[in-house]
Amino acid sequence: MQYKGIVFDLDGVICHTDKYHYMAWKQIADEIGVYFDEAINDRLRGVSRMESLEIILEKYKGELTAEEKQKLSEKKNNIYRNLLCQMSPKDVSEEVAETLNELKRRNIRIAIGSSSKNACFILRKIGLLEIFDATSDGNNISRSKPDPEVFLKAAEYLKLNAGECLVVEDARSGIDAAAAGGFPCAGLGDAAAYEKTNYPLHRFSEVLSVIENRNR
Ligand code: BG6
Ligand code: MG
Repeated sequence: MQYKGIVFDLDGVICHTDKYHYMAWKQIADEIGVYFDEAINDRLRGVSRMESLEIILEKYKGELTAEEKQKLSEKKNNIYRNLLCQMSPKDVSEEVAETLNELKRRNIRIAIGSSSKNACFILRKIGLLEIFDATSDGNNISRSKPDPEVFLKAAEYLKLNAGECLVVEDARSGIDAAAAGGFPCAGLGDAAAYEKTNYPLHRFSEVLSVIENRNR
């Protein structure tokens, strides 16, 4: 089957917001006196905001009510969104911008498949809101990665079947989600070394050769 579309994860693939997630969660962790470091932050990739908080609270000694957890996650989000305000089109590499343009020239449909509820906010900041044919994000799903829902919705918005859409991910939870939904998947960074990844990528622009080789 030819690949007619690509669903891109946002954070860690199209742009990099990891450091902002880290800074915001670190402020919350310090406030409640729980240990938090970059290794724990890595485990939050692809995971929803509330699930991220639960991971951070693994090291927390006390008990928090659902309401307190809700307040903490809202506080984290406010800090995070303030940090995101400094993002601009400069946060998109030339390679990413050129590759997306080339995919459009080749009539490959492109979508975002992100667990983030801030996906559109980020896309607007980095000037990429218009280029994608569809956006599936934390606002239109009830289960986050490794559940395939976010990618299945993206494929539906593109009017394509899972087998026709390549998923591009940097997190293992995202590769698990793609595999669970029946999507072929390409992995960058950590995900390149994961055994479930069909196409390990060294560079973002290599998606062009994946498509070329498949569709020739
Ligand atoms: C994902 C990030 O894109 O979005 C996760 O990789 C994050 O680390 C998740 O927890 C949810 O983000 P948001 O913006 O809805 O808090
Ligand atoms: Mg990611």
